[in-house]
Amino acid sequence: AQKIIIDTDPGQDDAVAILLALASPELEILGLTAVAGNVSLKFTEKNALKICELAGKTDIKVFSGAVRPLVRPLVTAEYVHGKTGLDGPDLPEPKMKLQEKHAVDFIVETLMKEEAGTVTLCPLGPLTNIALALIREPKIAGRIKEIVLMGGGFFEGGNITPTSEFNIYVDPHAADVVFRSGAPIVMMPLDVTHKALTSARRVEKFRTMGTRAGTATAQMLDFYERFDVEKYGTDGGPLHDPCVIAYLLKPELFKGRQCNVAVETGSELTMGMTVVDWWAVTEREKNAMVMRDIDHDGFFDLLIERIGRL
Ligand code: BDR
Ligand code: CA
Repeated sequence: AQKIIIDTDPGQDDAVAILLALASPELEILGLTAVAGNVSLKFTEKNALKICELAGKTDIKVFSGAVRPLVRPLVTAEYVHGKTGLDGPDLPEPKMKLQEKHAVDFIVETLMKEEAGTVTLCPLGPLTNIALALIREPKIAGRIKEIVLMGGGFFEGGNITPTSEFNIYVDPHAADVVFRSGAPIVMMPLDVTHKALTSARRVEKFRTMGTRAGTATAQMLDFYERFDVEKYGTDGGPLHDPCVIAYLLKPELFKGRQCNVAVETGSELTMGMTVVDWWAVTEREKNAMVMRDIDHDGFFDLLIERIGRL
């Protein structure tokens, strides 16, 4: 199985991504690392535990990470995800405990211990933990198989400011460290995720599964899409983070190209913008596989089939 670490700020769409990974035998989850983002760390770490318990996977190791971005004050999104970050279903208080070790230590130690080129990082939130790991032990950059991340946007623009996507905006300095690290990167920007919509017909398929995971998924999506449906006027909201896990399972669902990506950290107006050189108009080194298209029916078929297994 492909070894992965999921770095996350759950978040309903993070939760669905974690469920997809937990349901997939092709993936071996070495650990979940929580980061502050959609809500504060005390909620994201607890939500990560809740999701493992929902899936009946109580042996997964969950680590707590950075409480705030490297430089800027934390910006959260309770208006999207609710006060707990996981509003919608009524999930019990977790019995599972967090690991003692700090998430950043776990990431560094795992990458140094496992054979080089065998561990994939899956960041689904602000890149603070990943940047801290790269700063703590720069040798990990050459040992990471791939960083497959949800973040950024280019032709599609931003969702938190006109130019910037939430995960990159919240910690642009961390994103800058990651995109300059030299590690192989696959980027799932809004250009992809805005094509993966949780339409009523799709959510119904989770609701009628007759399992706890299916029902909770439908309740999470109902809650989480209400804000975006109003904002974008679409049938359903974009299901961002599961695109990362789907890529590991079925890369053929996505299309993109190798580009240079640079992150704006200087201008308040465009802070956190991912400047993607899609047309290769500069000599800047290509540092990321930037996705632009998704087979959204194939994506939801995969998601429904896998979550149905839980
Ligand atoms: C990203 O921001 C969060 O609200 C979601 O969980 C996703 O990771 C989308 O911009
Ligand atoms: Ca997220």
